[in-house]
Formats: sequence, C-alpha cells, structure tokens
Amino acid sequence: MKNNKFPKDFLWGGATAANQCEGGYNEYGRGLANVDVIPYGEDRFSVMNGTMRMLDFDDKYYYPAKEGIDMFHRFKEDIALFAEMGFKVYRMSIGWSRIFPKGDEDKANEEGLKFYENIFKECKKYGIEPLVTITHFDCPIHLIKQYGGWKNRKLIGFYENLCKVLFTRYKGLVKHWITFNEINMILHLPFMGAGLLVDEGENFEKAQYQAIHHELVASAIATKLAHEIDPNNKVGCMIAAGTTYPNTCNPNDFWKAYKNDREGYFFIDVQARGYYPNYALKEMERKGITPKMEEGDKGLLKKHTVDFISLSYYNSQLTSADSEISKQTEGNVFPTLRNPYLEASEWGWQIDPLGFRITLNNLYDRYQKPLFVAENGLGAQDVIDENGNINDDYRISYLDEHIKAMRDAINIDGVEVIGYTTWGCIDLVSASTGEMKKRYGFIYVDKDNEGNGTLKRYKKKSFYWYKDVIKTNGENLK
Ligand code: BG6
Repeated sequence: MKNNKFPKDFLWGGATAANQCEGGYNEYGRGLANVDVIPYGEDRFSVMNGTMRMLDFDDKYYYPAKEGIDMFHRFKEDIALFAEMGFKVYRMSIGWSRIFPKGDEDKANEEGLKFYENIFKECKKYGIEPLVTITHFDCPIHLIKQYGGWKNRKLIGFYENLCKVLFTRYKGLVKHWITFNEINMILHLPFMGAGLLVDEGENFEKAQYQAIHHELVASAIATKLAHEIDPNNKVGCMIAAGTTYPNTCNPNDFWKAYKNDREGYFFIDVQARGYYPNYALKEMERKGITPKMEEGDKGLLKKHTVDFISLSYYNSQLTSADSEISKQTEGNVFPTLRNPYLEASEWGWQIDPLGFRITLNNLYDRYQKPLFVAENGLGAQDVIDENGNINDDYRISYLDEHIKAMRDAINIDGVEVIGYTTWGCIDLVSASTGEMKKRYGFIYVDKDNEGNGTLKRYKKKSFYWYKDVIKTNGENLK
C-alpha cells in the first residue's frame, strides 16, 4: 500500500450526539435527562461537575439542549446533506429517556423506538452505516433522583434492558455500537458525564469508582447481549484521548504525564483486556475506594471484551510535577499547561496533529485491537460573508493535518484504524460551554448562543472539501 492510501472500506463520516442536536426534549413522551438540565451561562461548569445540583429546569436559565438544532424535526434534511458529502458512516446517539422516559419501566416507549428506526432507515436509503452510541453522557433524571444514578448497582439492570430493546429492535439496521461515550469523562465532569451526584458527607472518589465499576460491568453485559442477539454486531468502548507530554525531561514530569494518561487507559484496560490492572487495584486499595464487586463481575469483564476501541482526539496535554508551574494550568475540561510549540484554537484547545498519530500508536500498541476515531475536529467561530459563503479554511487545514497524521499512523506505523467521524459534522450545541458559536460543522446552522435564529442549514467551504476527501478515499491530500 502506498503511503497516501486509506484502507479500501475505510468508514468516513461524521458524528453527533442526541443531547446536542436533537432537541424535541418533551416530544413523543420523552423523559427528562441530566443533559437537558445543564444550563447555558456561568453556572454551567458547576452543574456539569456536580458542585451545583440541578435536577429540573429553572426559569432563570436558558437550556440549549431543549431545542438543540432541532434535528428531531429535520433529520431527513440533515441525513440528505451527509449523503451528499458521501458519508459511509454516521455516528449518532440514542436518547435513553426517549426509549425509557424514566429509565426503570418494563416496557419501552414505542414512539421513541420508531423515531430512531426512521433515522436508521433514512441512513440505509443512502447506504450510510449508523454507528450508535448507546449513551452519550445522558442518564434519565428519574434514575438519578430515585436511585442515585450509576453509583447504584440497579442501573446495570436498567441499562441492560435498554440494550436488549435496542439490539433486538434494530437488528439488521445497526451493526456498530459504542457502549458509553468518553467513559473517562466521569472523572472530570461527573454529572454531565454520568449523572453522578454525591450526598453530603459521602466519599466522592468512592462513589465515583463504584459508578465506574457499574458502567464497566454494564458495558460488558451490553457486549455479551449484542453478540448473542446478532453475531454481526461489533461493539466498541470509547475514550476521550490525547497523549500527555512532560513539561521537561525531569523524570518526575515524565512520571506525572505517564500517570495522567493511565487514568484514562484504566477504563480501556478493563474493557479491552478484561480485567482491572494492578496499578488501579493498588491505588484504589491505598485510597480505600475499592468498589464493591459481585460474584460473576470478574467473569463478565473477562469474557466480554470489546471488538474495537473508539476515541475522541482534539488535542494533546502538557503537565508538570512542579506545583508552581502547574498552577498556570488553564481551566478547560482537561487541565493542561500551555505548550509553546503548539498553536491553540480560540477556546485554548492546542492543535497537535502529530499528537494524534502518537495517541493512535499508544492505543494500538497497548491493545492491538482495531481503532475507530469517533471524534476529531476544530471548534471555531464562522462568519457568513455578503455572498452567503462560509470560508472555513482554518477547519479544512485542521482536518487535513489530522487526517494526514492518521494516514501516517496507518501506513507508516501499521496502526489498524477502521473509520473516522469528524465531530459535529453539522453545527450543534457545545458540550462544554453550551454555545452555538463554537462550531465544528461542515454545515452551518443559523442559531446563536441565546437560541435566536432560523435554524436554516448552509453548506460551508469544508463541506465540498470533505466530499472530495471521501470520494477520493483521502488520496488527494498532499
Ligand atoms: C467530546 C464530546 O468531549 O468533545 C462531545 O464527546 C463534545 O459531546 C466534543 O461536543 C467537543 O467538545 P465541545 O465542548 O467543544 O462541544
């Protein structure tokens, strides 16, 4: 294979998540979820990390997920645009509370099931393969209020019911599944990532690792069910990835960077290898936070490992063991020092295509399982000029550099990458900031941060560029 080629059946496409684009939060009997009640504005971060408790709407705030970009009503138009770009795959997620409004019912909501069935059929019409994330940060509010969310073992059973319904109903329509989006996000934004809240006096880390254990077991059960219901199913885990560099060659800096990466790898170690790694067991024991495990858990984890590993990659990270230096760390989701060798996006996310290649290599070296890049992209402000054009050359250049880095990982390093879906292929609500102006799409959506706009869709310059990338299977990239 020449160095500029991609595998023949490479899955090119784009990615979205229900809570950031669907809207229709109360349509067809849908129930409320944690992701609905995260407001736009200065309190957003406190709600996302659970320091401010919000389990319902408050008139004082604007909630961007309520309407999203109204894909609920416009999915046909949007999928037609994805098809025009030549998508082979469309990554999307299920709104759990659309299928089980409260989460603990015995019977699924037929209207919710029908809604996704229509989406999958629409994809099929164009030969687009859906890649479905079962939960992309969402958890029904009722499960949080009634059971305390994922720290309660009962959640495993409710998630299992959801999976059973999904795998049975969509057999033949969906083949690729991801169990939890960015499962490691529970460490950084526990309420947004997993609906996790702790009660006063409760040991936070203990609750966190108990919830993590439940998610890991739930993920193994989902993998088991998916394979039993349809042997064609392929199930993946998903990590928010991005390698960490040490600030200097001081071994203490290296060790800190190493441990920082291992915090995220821990999840994949369990999901891909099938057991808790010793370093994690030791640390949990030291801290007194070893989760309660039931008989049978170990066997499930061991037997039902994932078929592929998916990841999001936006940037690398930089860390220092020197507490004076690490004070400079900026307040993004993943705290990182400023890397003087890299440029950054308007939101301070440092742009590092080689870091992408390194990350892919690290993951493949560690697990030797196929990788799927489920998210990558640049959040930027776009402007419509007087002729109605959006010349997003900065986005083209970001994606071009990253796709070439992935190409090197595949051709030069021999990493097995089976697909690539850019994040927010259509503009949608930002997960971290709740903004609309932090745009990732090839398709512009007329809506602003406060919710004003016609919701009309416009093709950006990158739309035509990506269409060509897919058509030529990446061969025109220099
Ligand atoms: C990932 C999430 O963390 O990054 C997405 O899976 C999110 O949901 C994406 O939108 C980009 O982050 P942001 O904060 O710019 O929307």
